[in-house]
Amino acid sequence: MIALHDLVKHYGRFTAVDGISLDVKSGEIHGFLGPNGAGKTTTLRMIAGLLRPTSGRILVNGHDLATDAEAAKASLGFIPDRPFIYEKLTAAEFLRFHAGLYGIDGNGIGDRVREMLDLFELGRWEDELVESFSHGMKQRLVMSAAFLHRPRSVVVDEPMVGLDPRGARLIKDVFRRMSERGVAILMSTHTLEVAQEMCDRISIILKGRIVAQGTVAQLRTLSGGGDDQLTEVFLKLTGGSALQEIDEII
Ligand SMILES: Nc1ncnc2c1ncn2[C@@H]1O[C@H](COP(=O)(O)OP(=O)(O)OP(=O)(O)O)[C@@H](O)[C@H]1O
Ligand SMILES: [Mg+2]
Repeated sequence: MIALHDLVKHYGRFTAVDGISLDVKSGEIHGFLGPNGAGKTTTLRMIAGLLRPTSGRILVNGHDLATDAEAAKASLGFIPDRPFIYEKLTAAEFLRFHAGLYGIDGNGIGDRVREMLDLFELGRWEDELVESFSHGMKQRLVMSAAFLHRPRSVVVDEPMVGLDPRGARLIKDVFRRMSERGVAILMSTHTLEVAQEMCDRISIILKGRIVAQGTVAQLRTLSGGGDDQLTEVFLKLTGGSALQEIDEII
């Protein structure tokens, strides 16, 4: 599970995250939705231990990130929006390197690496250099690294960007299976259909605060009810559409 208590992040005088509290339970896929600049990536990077919060508390699988960072990070998988991969490694070398970082490079790691490459349909390319990979292949490689050490919670920033329909389906299926096995998943996305299809609950974040939270049905009710498409619900909850402004300018 992932638990956030009154999480705050200031960049100088600017408040990017303004008191976020959130619980993602074991087995839950939780969607993190919000306009550009709302504070999603900042929050996810804090959970991953890459950014230090200004204040607040983060628990990853019961481990406090401030006092027990190693255990928290060891039980978490993080898939960043703009991953960095060493281009001069092969896919298999990259995963072995990653396993080393997590201290799981002992016996049997070769089998686990192959298993993950096969799962993400990269088996044929295990000995190819990452620099020759397409965007979608790199994306799938990063996912295979994030799941390699069997994390109990996973944080994903924009997983579907640039994936072809087959890749997107594969990722959805993997996430669903992982959640069925009890993994807690917190996922930011701008693709509302993905959120609607995959997420048990959704938090809508605006200017660093959660302004609405619930199932898709509950969010519909919050935004005024009806059978609105999630796009309309999202726009209502985050300040409406820009059509009038566009009309005034053009
Ligand atoms: N290192 C930084 N220094 C100063 N301000 C930053 C820094 N990183 C992010 N910000 C600001 O914090 C705010 C939140 O950024 P963040 O990347 O968390 O948004 P986001 O919700 O992930 O947006 P997007 O949907 O575009 O990915 C933005 O206004 C951004 O300009
Ligand atoms: Mg972002």
